[in-house]
Amino acid sequence: MDKLAIESALGPETGSFIDEILVFDEIDSTNLESVRRIKSGRKGTRLIVAHAQTAGRGRRSRQWLSPTGGVYMSLSRGFTAEPQSMQALSLVTALSVLVAARRLGAADLQVKWPNDILSGKHKLAGVLLELRCEQDGNYLVFGIGLNLRLAPEAVAAIDRPVTDLATIVGEVLEPPTVIAAIASQLLTDIQKFEDQGFAPFQNPWNRYDRYLNQDIVIQSGGQRIIGKSLGVDQEGALILQSAAGRQLITGGEIFPSLGEIAGDADR
Ligand code: BTN
Repeated sequence: MDKLAIESALGPETGSFIDEILVFDEIDSTNLESVRRIKSGRKGTRLIVAHAQTAGRGRRSRQWLSPTGGVYMSLSRGFTAEPQSMQALSLVTALSVLVAARRLGAADLQVKWPNDILSGKHKLAGVLLELRCEQDGNYLVFGIGLNLRLAPEAVAAIDRPVTDLATIVGEVLEPPTVIAAIASQLLTDIQKFEDQGFAPFQNPWNRYDRYLNQDIVIQSGGQRIIGKSLGVDQEGALILQSAAGRQLITGGEIFPSLGEIAGDADR
């Protein structure tokens, strides 16, 4: 995979929205590299991709195992909205990945609040947004990890059920095709979010929500709340019907049952 292949898969119109594309064989983390470049004052919209990562970062300070066979990409750009809207943008990003993967032939995908893309109970992709506040403004890094074709050893090393795009689609897609499809959908959705907020994404999210109308447990910090998921509101908060009434959840993680709350997973 090289930069030209990604540029060509993006096409001139979408390509014109990206100022710089960088491709690494191996890097610690594409999110970290994005942050380093923002800190050193390099502006614009940037796409960084890697064949493998040695220190991939997941949500909640988890490790994101990143052997070859995955897509590891970070899109970074200036961010003018309130930092509180990051949570909603994380949902938007997960939806962008789902929509792009559907276009590539992956049917029956679902989202798990706030940022997982699933096929059945198996995780296909995850999203990690990181905010960087600099003197000249705020910058946001949209980090996306998607399993393209995982080797059996990689599947065994990850201690939660995972799947890859090749298994779902029935063929191995070229990384530039997948990267361009995701980047292009994400750029469109970021623009829509900047213009209209989360509202246009509320119904699509609830349509693809794996746990809509199901009993779940939310773990947030040391707290666990049990209730029925009623989907997300216009701001992207999760509506939970619990014994205490309706609550809006803005952070934490969903578990289908108490029994699934175990130690930290690798992803
Ligand atoms: C999650 O925990 O589900 C989010 C995982 C996000 C992983 C991606 S891979 C590309 C980018 N670089 C990182 O270090 N993390 C994100």
